[in-house]
Amino acid sequence: MCRVTGCRICGGAVEEFLDLGRQPLSDAFRRPDDDAEEFFYRLAVGQCGDCTMVQLMEEVPRERMFHEDYPYHSSGSAVMREHFTRTALGFLGTELDHDDAFMVEIGCNDGVLLRTVADAGVRHLGFEPSGGVAALAAAAGVRVRTEFFEEETAAAVRAAEGPADVIFAANTICHIPYLDSVLRGADALLGPDGVFVFEDPYWGDIVAKTSFDQIYDEHFYLFTVRSVSELAERFGFALVDIERLPVHGGEIRYTLARAGARTPSPAVAEARAAEDARRLTAPDVLTGFATSVAAIRDDLVALLRTLRAEGRTVAAYGATAKSATVANYCGIGPDLVSYVCDTTPAKQHRVTPGMHIPVEPPETFAGSYPDYALLFAWNHAEEIMAKEEGFRASGGKWIGYVPDVRVS
Ligand code: SAM
Ligand code: TMP
Ligand code: ZN
Repeated sequence: MCRVTGCRICGGAVEEFLDLGRQPLSDAFRRPDDDAEEFFYRLAVGQCGDCTMVQLMEEVPRERMFHEDYPYHSSGSAVMREHFTRTALGFLGTELDHDDAFMVEIGCNDGVLLRTVADAGVRHLGFEPSGGVAALAAAAGVRVRTEFFEEETAAAVRAAEGPADVIFAANTICHIPYLDSVLRGADALLGPDGVFVFEDPYWGDIVAKTSFDQIYDEHFYLFTVRSVSELAERFGFALVDIERLPVHGGEIRYTLARAGARTPSPAVAEARAAEDARRLTAPDVLTGFATSVAAIRDDLVALLRTLRAEGRTVAAYGATAKSATVANYCGIGPDLVSYVCDTTPAKQHRVTPGMHIPVEPPETFAGSYPDYALLFAWNHAEEIMAKEEGFRASGGKWIGYVPDVRVS
């Protein structure tokens, strides 16, 4: 673990505005009988006074987070499978619609996107350092390098396979503290007219919804259109397009091209103007966010304690990485929430990081509904509520905490 002394992008001073306390690795689900010492770090967020990049104050070593047993499987959500199929088909019909096109994905996980590119017979390569999910991608017919994308590995691919037309990443670029190396790698690998496209949670949505659970070890950066513009320019690129995405609680898809290669879409300037109008980088907006976060914690803990005192049964739904922040910051353990159900086999029959709430398969939930269910996977609310209609029909109530604590 290393305390960050200056902005990882520009070296400027980073001003801390929110401390979420001592936190475990968000994806470190443990066997119930595991008594090895758990790894903790201080989860705090700050903003660079120069380039405005919002970033964590402490960096967790990458090998602790991304390894053979990394439990997140991208294909676990039908909505996300569809989203990535559509995204792949979009590239196949545009940037990749020529002979010998080449697409590289950073963080391809179980191949949720690249399998469509592979099925179309288009040249591709996924970088995926987490061996377990990389093996699933390979089994789905995807070409994978079980390596971290960075300057050296990107340059090696450029030398062996030529330039890429598209470098794509979803929910991965914000995970990478060493973005200088990634941007230099993209510079080495991308063809002259290529695009570097990535989508990540949008800080503007996080502030608007007070979705502080988007802040955890793996989300080292929380991007805005302004901070990504500045990042791009620093490394010889330009932000030429942005698209708002509804997935994962609100994301932006950023398209970077080599400086001068493409005319920026008006959407970029419009989004920057909207961020300025909201004063998204203003210190009082950031401290206001921190105040709202504490209010949500107090409301949620008070509600759970009341339900417990009334003898109600409460479970949680979705052992998300995000929920580690909520549970550990609020102090929600098995005394307040008896278990959390999740479809991911690698998480089931384990306990959650830090607070050690047992993780059960969804059958446990459906087998005997609790009175209340705390929806940790609020970003998949529609999909989950549709498949769990029986819960409400039986009188069960959902508890949400984004944008505020409510029972429905
Ligand atoms: N793209 C998928 C999605 O959107 O569902 C996976 C996202 S998952 C949250 C992040 C993935 O990035 C993990 O599978 C992790 O192993 C991978 N990763 C982390 N650092 C990486 C790097 N430097 N290069 C390539 N992949 C990386
Ligand atoms: P995410 O918010 O990081 O995508 O994680 C979602 C978690 O919720 C993941 O562990 C899978 C789980 N999940 C379910 O248990 N049931 C579902 O229907 C969906 C969509 C996700
Ligand atoms: Zn900076």
